[in-house]
Amino acid sequence: MAAPTPCITTYTLLLSLSFAFFSFFISCSSASPEAETLLSFKNSIEDQKGSLSTWSNNSVHHYCNWTGITCSNTSPSLTVTSINLQSLNLSGEISSSVCDLSNLAHLNLADNLFNQPIPLHLSHCSSLQTLNLSNNLIWGPIPDQIFQFGSLRVLDFSRNHIEGRIPESIGSLVELQVLNLGSNLLSGTVPTVFKNLTELVLLDLSENAYLVSEIPSDIGNLAKLEQLLLRGSSFYGEVPDSLVGLQSLTILDLSLNNLSGPIPQTLGSSLKNLVSFDVSQNKLLGSFPSGICGAKGLKDLSLHTNFFTGTIPSSINECLKLERFQVQNNGFSDDFPDGLWSFSNIKLIRAENNRFSGQVPPGISMAAQLEQVQIDNNSFSGTIPNGLGSVKSLYRFSASLNDFFGELPPNFCDSPVMSIINLSHNSLSGQIPELKKCRKLVSLSLAENSFNGEIPPSLSDLPVLTYLDLSANNLTGSIPPGLQNLKLALFNVSFNQLSGRVPAALISGLPASFLEGNPGLCGPGLPNSCSDEPPKQHNHVGLSESTWALISIAFGIGVLLLAAGFFVFHRSSKQKSQLGGWRSVFFYPLRITEHDLVMGMNEKSAVGGNGVFGSSYIIRLPSGEQVAVKKLVNIGSQTSKALKAEVKTLAKIRHKNIAKILGFCHSDESIILIYEYLQNGSLGDLISRPDFQLQWSDRLRIALGVAQGLAYLHKHYVPHLLHRNVKSKNILLDVGFEPKLTDFAIDRIVGDAAFQSTIASEFAYSCYNAPECGQSKKATEQMDVYSFGVVLLELITGRQADQPESFGDSLDIVKWVRRKINIANGSLDVLDPKISRSSQHEMLAALEIATRCTSLMPEKRPSMFEVTRALQSLGSERPFIPDSEFSNSEKNSAPV
Ligand SMILES: *[C@@H]1O[C@H](CO)[C@@H](O)[C@H](O)[C@H]1NC(C)=O
Ligand SMILES: *[C@@H]1O[C@H](CO)[C@@H](O)[C@H](O)[C@H]1NC(C)=O
Ligand SMILES: *[C@@H]1O[C@H](CO)[C@@H](O)[C@H](O)[C@H]1NC(C)=O
Ligand SMILES: *[C@@H]1O[C@H](CO)[C@@H](O)[C@H](O)[C@H]1NC(C)=O
Ligand SMILES: *[C@@H]1O[C@H](CO)[C@@H](O)[C@H](O)[C@H]1NC(C)=O
Ligand SMILES: *[C@@H]1O[C@H](CO)[C@@H](O)[C@H](O)[C@H]1NC(C)=O
Ligand SMILES: *[C@@H]1O[C@H](CO)[C@@H](O)[C@H](O)[C@H]1NC(C)=O
Ligand SMILES: *[C@@H]1O[C@H](CO)[C@@H](O)[C@H](O)[C@H]1NC(C)=O
Ligand SMILES: *[C@@H]1O[C@H](CO)[C@@H](O)[C@H](O)[C@H]1NC(C)=O
Repeated sequence: MAAPTPCITTYTLLLSLSFAFFSFFISCSSASPEAETLLSFKNSIEDQKGSLSTWSNNSVHHYCNWTGITCSNTSPSLTVTSINLQSLNLSGEISSSVCDLSNLAHLNLADNLFNQPIPLHLSHCSSLQTLNLSNNLIWGPIPDQIFQFGSLRVLDFSRNHIEGRIPESIGSLVELQVLNLGSNLLSGTVPTVFKNLTELVLLDLSENAYLVSEIPSDIGNLAKLEQLLLRGSSFYGEVPDSLVGLQSLTILDLSLNNLSGPIPQTLGSSLKNLVSFDVSQNKLLGSFPSGICGAKGLKDLSLHTNFFTGTIPSSINECLKLERFQVQNNGFSDDFPDGLWSFSNIKLIRAENNRFSGQVPPGISMAAQLEQVQIDNNSFSGTIPNGLGSVKSLYRFSASLNDFFGELPPNFCDSPVMSIINLSHNSLSGQIPELKKCRKLVSLSLAENSFNGEIPPSLSDLPVLTYLDLSANNLTGSIPPGLQNLKLALFNVSFNQLSGRVPAALISGLPASFLEGNPGLCGPGLPNSCSDEPPKQHNHVGLSESTWALISIAFGIGVLLLAAGFFVFHRSSKQKSQLGGWRSVFFYPLRITEHDLVMGMNEKSAVGGNGVFGSSYIIRLPSGEQVAVKKLVNIGSQTSKALKAEVKTLAKIRHKNIAKILGFCHSDESIILIYEYLQNGSLGDLISRPDFQLQWSDRLRIALGVAQGLAYLHKHYVPHLLHRNVKSKNILLDVGFEPKLTDFAIDRIVGDAAFQSTIASEFAYSCYNAPECGQSKKATEQMDVYSFGVVLLELITGRQADQPESFGDSLDIVKWVRRKINIANGSLDVLDPKISRSSQHEMLAALEIATRCTSLMPEKRPSMFEVTRALQSLGSERPFIPDSEFSNSEKNSAPV
């Protein structure tokens, strides 16, 4: 305690006298060896941001006050017990000198850029209890000598590049309470070493795609374990019976593995503290244990709610802790554990895509915390209970593709936060009740039922209703005019018995309207015009004189490109409907009217389903040319002027691999972008065909073109742009397979906030998105690079990026490839077998590029410029590869 003060004083005195200072420094530092130790630790660290500037031997601060240092007062003096340097962008080396701090108990270097093997030498730190190296660039295997860390309590190596097997010797770390090896590249089987690790509270082996292992049954010995996180690795086999031993477990996450067989029957009744249960996306099957958290007992309870006034059996009390129950995408059958429906803490029930039967009992009214229910695609039956309406926290109830029947209770949408209801594909009947209270309802789908009566006019009062699908029922009467006041993106009333005039804005306005199969409906563009309306009345949808003038102008994309790059036709038109006028700006003399556009956007011309930002259509113009049209909903709050400026910025791009924007129309609510369209359709269409066949040189041309287009957007075009939606569906091909990117930089148009929130929404999950997409706010070039890598993998493997149909293999392509190439010779396995072996050499090189592009760590991905160069050299190398080398590599790579 006494030493430092004279030291600092001395220092101030002698600032100018460097010689004298030096001698005093010696005396000073010998008096505080811990400071000296810290400085030598700092010496090997690269501190680009100067985060450790307080760490200095001429600092005004006592070393206990240096950044990240905590001391405690163990007599005779202060001593360093904890170093926390997380998130400081540090790199360099973690030196063992730190172990000279004999009381150092906690070392946290998480969220930095340390790029080295596991620093085994830290095992010399005799008092070390916590070592946190999470989220660095640590690589290499876990050494057998890991046992040297025998006194550690917390070991966090998560989110690094640690590879190889988990060594048996890890079983010697008998003091461990936290072992986190999640998000690494570990492989092989998990050794049975858990008998010894009785102190474990948290075990995380999740997101290790190459960990191909059964769940070691001795994990069941961990009586203190609270969290078992094995999500997204490659665990297979059955869930061991022994897991019933995990009496303290609160979170069990086995999702996204390859587990099969039944859930042990006794499991439910023993895991009494469970808060979260997730076994989703496996191949589990059979009956669900009725004992899950005493669910069986509650079954009766839910039918006799009075029971609650008596004493509650303790075994039931215990299971009231369950909040999240996720078993979706498995093969479970028989009765759903229906006691769950009335647990007082339950928030989330997901069981979609199984074969569960059973009912939703009236006791659901007791689930007062319930927020989200997804049980689509099962065999639930019975009626939708009245009790549903009393759950005031419910915001999603989707139960499509089941056997529910009977009438909807009038209160079914009474939750004030309800936003998504999907009851399509059931056998519900009767009238659709008036919906008054669910003011937050965004999406209502009651399609494919047997509802009759009229469309309830109260739907028009729901301010944020965006998707309305009432198709394939038996609805009668007319379409309530009030619906045109909503900002609908989808309006589907096809195949009912509706009649009368369709409100104008529902035809010409924002929504993708589906009206067919209602012979009684009339209006412009429909087979029947209404009896009180002249047969042709184009002005109705806002066609002005100037538009007709345009029609006489010859149409020729590209040919009429003027020297200035583009020319602009302005039109504006006044519209009678409430939607306000369409305003159009064409960069080419397009022979198309808003009317043609709007009428052309129908089910037949729709492509690729509803995208997250709206729908896309291919429209044939009267001239026979085709254009691609994208209708954006959700266009944020850009002013019309700003909007025009943004679209012009995009329309000025001139690159052979970027599709041209030919023009756009916008109203207050929506914007329609018109792109050039190419005859061969999109790469995505091509790959999804069962007979997809394309020789390697064409695939390479596509990859190179796309890379050049992206490199142009990223680096050469001013302003620099990000594409932000690279996927094979957004790569158009001309006859010679020259690719053109489309759908780029939509964020510039809809605004970043709207773009972000749409991307973040559940609907927008896409395997083209880089893993960091959800986490970081800022979009980066590296995210585009990742998406490009996914496209390149599609070209190399001939597989679609996500293959929803093949259930067991429902990995996204990146995971699939990573798993395969980890196996000896597995790289050859991923190459599209339809391509001749003479291209193997180049394909493997391209695979190498693709795996770098899809690296989990953004900073490890190459730039698009580097990718372009690499792909170019690939193509140009071809003639120089000596024949002998070729035949050699062919011999070595005989199919395994
Ligand atoms: C202490 O500071 C002096 C001058 O600032 C420097 O030369 C010396 O290397 C430092 N000592 C350590 C251990 O960093
Ligand atoms: C650390 O700084 C605080 C306030 O800045 C001061 O009160 C305290 O005495 C300092 N500790 C040491 C050991 O110098
Ligand atoms: C670390 O670096 C990144 C990018 O280089 C920067 O965004 C971030 O703010 C830095 N963090 C700190 C704590 O300096
Ligand atoms: C390690 O540090 C990271 C980053 O701060 C943190 O999220 C994580 O919880 C820490 N690990 C443990 C076991 O405390
Ligand atoms: C259990 O721990 C002891 C030391 O406490 C060690 O000798 C033994 O090898 C460990 N067993 C396993 C299976 O790791
Ligand atoms: C899943 O397990 C099955 C056997 O049960 C195996 O054939 C298949 O390859 C495994 N899939 C993955 C992706 O590990
Ligand atoms: C319904 O679930 C089964 C698995 O139980 C799955 O094979 C099928 O694809 C699912 N159907 C839909 C429409 O998702
Ligand atoms: C409603 O469910 C059906 C069938 O599962 C599905 O096809 C449809 O996309 C869902 N609608 C919405 C708006 O989620
Ligand atoms: C529709 O309603 C008519 C009479 O209102 C009835 O005859 C017909 O069977 C119903 N169709 C369906 C599919 O429910």
